[in-house]
Amino acid sequence: MTDFFKDKTILITGGTGSFGRAFAKRLLKEDKCQKVIIFSRDEWKQWEMKNSEPFNHSNKIRFFLGDVRDKDRLIRAFTEVDLVIHAAALKQVPAAEYNPTEFVKTNINGAMNVIDAAIQVGVEKVIALSTDKAVNPVNLYGATKLCSDKLFTAAQSYVGQRGYPTFTVVRYGNVAGSRGSIIPFWAELVKRGQKNLPLTDLRMTRFWITLDEAVDLVIKGFEIAKGSEIVVPKIPSFKIVDLLDALSPNSKPDIIGIREGEKIHELMIPSDDARHTLEFDDHYIIIPEATIHNAKLLTKFLNGRSGKTLVDGFSYTSGTNDQWLNPEKLKELVKPYLY
Ligand SMILES: NC(=O)c1ccc[n+]([C@@H]2O[C@H](COP(=O)([O-])OP(=O)(O)OC[C@H]3O[C@@H](n4cnc5c(N)ncnc54)[C@H](OP(=O)(O)O)[C@@H]3O)[C@@H](O)[C@H]2O)c1
Repeated sequence: MTDFFKDKTILITGGTGSFGRAFAKRLLKEDKCQKVIIFSRDEWKQWEMKNSEPFNHSNKIRFFLGDVRDKDRLIRAFTEVDLVIHAAALKQVPAAEYNPTEFVKTNINGAMNVIDAAIQVGVEKVIALSTDKAVNPVNLYGATKLCSDKLFTAAQSYVGQRGYPTFTVVRYGNVAGSRGSIIPFWAELVKRGQKNLPLTDLRMTRFWITLDEAVDLVIKGFEIAKGSEIVVPKIPSFKIVDLLDALSPNSKPDIIGIREGEKIHELMIPSDDARHTLEFDDHYIIIPEATIHNAKLLTKFLNGRSGKTLVDGFSYTSGTNDQWLNPEKLKELVKPYLY
């Protein structure tokens, strides 16, 4: 880790979740920051985290109960905070379809509250986590995350002359092995002795990212943040059927059909956004349309970096990606998730 976090106080909304824990662990391991504040609702999850390694041995971690739906609480929590990572969200696709208003309150109103509180208190930088499901969304979870992305990228216009906070969105695909995802689901069925594993569609592809890589990406996001951008990593794709084979070579797919709110391929940059996207070595940055068409704004945004524009019609999808994980590589990668 660079010196970026030296003496900084970092607050993570949704800090007891998979991402929040991994990020907090990394900060404590590097031991450069001043303080890490975990902001979330459930006292039990906080208690359990506080009493687990490495948090139980740290004097730099603090726990703050609160709900992102409550702006006053966020204002109180952000006091004397330098950097905010907004990771709190409701994210189960089927739950969103049945409880749309709850997802709107947390994922959209919560985003508005985080933005307002960050501007009011005057934190330095805010990173909001996004998902490939926010691109051309076909389910309510994705739609609420798209609104959140739009709120964060627009928020830069409201900070005024002082120029901070900067608001940056970091977007990635399904995290391998995350709670409720396909790897633990299949691993559990295999453990119980089930022979055939349910698979929605043989054509289905997804992006692959690990929790550690997501943490690296957010660190990079902080380092390069100028405001209003969406940072998208270049990550490999895989075929779900190859994953099944890697996880359980003796299992056969039991085709159950694509579920409501699912796509065959995920999309990280649609072609209409690719027009105002720059390509770097290991990531893309979607910038506001106005910036790419204004030489002065673009030079200021690039700040010495050399991003390339993309060919007309480019889109970044898990189905047409140029990086793939073959079955052999997948076998190696799924090992840590097997019992
Ligand atoms: N996991 C993935 O595959 C993936 C992929 C791409 C993007 N993302 C994005 O990454 C972010 C983090 O995901 P994750 O996997 O870490 O999620 P997670 O494990 O489900 O954790 C969610 C966190 O949010 C908190 N939370 C939920 N509602 C809240 C509210 N109203 N106020 C305050 N805290 C609240 C939860 O704690 P309490 O319930 O105690 O409040 C928990 O700490 C999300 O924004 C998600 O959309 C995830």
